[in-house]
Amino acid sequence: MAECIVNVADMRKIAKRRLPRMVFDYLDGAALDEVTLRDNAADLEHLRLRQRVLQDVSQSHLETDVLGQRVALPIMISPMGALTLFHPEADLALARAAVRAGTIFIHSAWSGTPLEEVAKVAPHSTWAQIAFWKDKGITRGHVDRAAAAGVNVLVVAGDVGVSSKRERDLHHRFDYRARPPLRDMLDAATKPAWLTRFALGRKITYGNYQIDGRPMRLNEMGPFMHENDNPGSTWADVEELRSRWSGKIVVKGVMTADDTRQAVRSGADAVIVSNHGGRQFDAQPSTIASLPEVVAAADGHLEVFMDSGIRRGSDVVKCLALGANACLIGRPAIYGLAARGPVGVDQVFELLREELVVALGCVGLTDINDLDRSVIFGGSEIKG
Ligand SMILES: Cc1cc2nc3c(=O)[nH]c(=O)nc-3n(C[C@H](O)[C@H](O)[C@H](O)COP(=O)(O)O)c2cc1C
Repeated sequence: MAECIVNVADMRKIAKRRLPRMVFDYLDGAALDEVTLRDNAADLEHLRLRQRVLQDVSQSHLETDVLGQRVALPIMISPMGALTLFHPEADLALARAAVRAGTIFIHSAWSGTPLEEVAKVAPHSTWAQIAFWKDKGITRGHVDRAAAAGVNVLVVAGDVGVSSKRERDLHHRFDYRARPPLRDMLDAATKPAWLTRFALGRKITYGNYQIDGRPMRLNEMGPFMHENDNPGSTWADVEELRSRWSGKIVVKGVMTADDTRQAVRSGADAVIVSNHGGRQFDAQPSTIASLPEVVAAADGHLEVFMDSGIRRGSDVVKCLALGANACLIGRPAIYGLAARGPVGVDQVFELLREELVVALGCVGLTDINDLDRSVIFGGSEIKG
């Protein structure tokens, strides 16, 4: 029987059924007690919008500009690593879906697919995330390859200097080096479609980095990260990048006014207000609560994007109303992919687009670029 999917939550339920528990938990889980994960959704939900009536909303305009590039809707795909676990062609599927939706896919530094392959299928829709590795040569190589692949926006991973504790993953011993508990192996055996794709599909590796000119093997990935992780990276690295890179620079993970002003001083063109979907630091506010502070500090000097917790078209309206130029989704795109394959990602975009049109009409507007704070209901204001 065909599944009745009417929203992102339905997609998540089906993804949960189709994926082994440990893989679903890697996707769905977050750091420690997952308080920030819950706050992201709860604070968005708590904000209320002011309904207007009898406005002509027969046409809607969802197009906007992000860093000088026209997009058909203000929803991009956040960078996500290790997506090969969900589907062997995950990065390519997401990038293609972004092209069809007229938007942007951000390729992760920790992706299993080389940047060049993604940029080839989505030449004008791919931005590349980079990390400041201890071995600066690795970062420089990545940046040079981005330029050669025609990518003109680099996204700096700002919030990965400190490692995170994701307890669902620890319970599953979900690690490239460890063998999962027997119960998880038996559970995976009950998902034959996933198991077949996993066994026959693309091998797990870090697509962006090689050892001796060949793809890294599974048992080499942990040591590579261990040797190259760089808790010592700073804004000086952003400034050094600025001096060498003529394209745009976006810093991801900015949650405070101080860091926003620093991003301006360091030459960034945009920031992403992001708490990594609650996956890194579980004692910080939701992104929607932090957005007003960042927008005020940016003061028009750089563009502000926001992710973490977007599950409804009305969430997008709330973000834009509080000053974001655009939003991004992470998990929802993978729920779609895991539930229905590549077509599921199109469906997630379509569901969000439809809900966005409705929410925009309900606040009496036809153009997302006209959204401002006046559409937020006073009593539900987030104290920024
Ligand atoms: C499976 C998974 C992998 C992720 N990998 C990365 C990554 O490689 N780099 C990064 O900056 N953020 C990563 N993130 C965080 C996302 O970019 C994004 O900030 C977050 O998913 C947004 O929240 P949402 O999932 O609630 O939409 C990852 C998130 C998920 C779910």
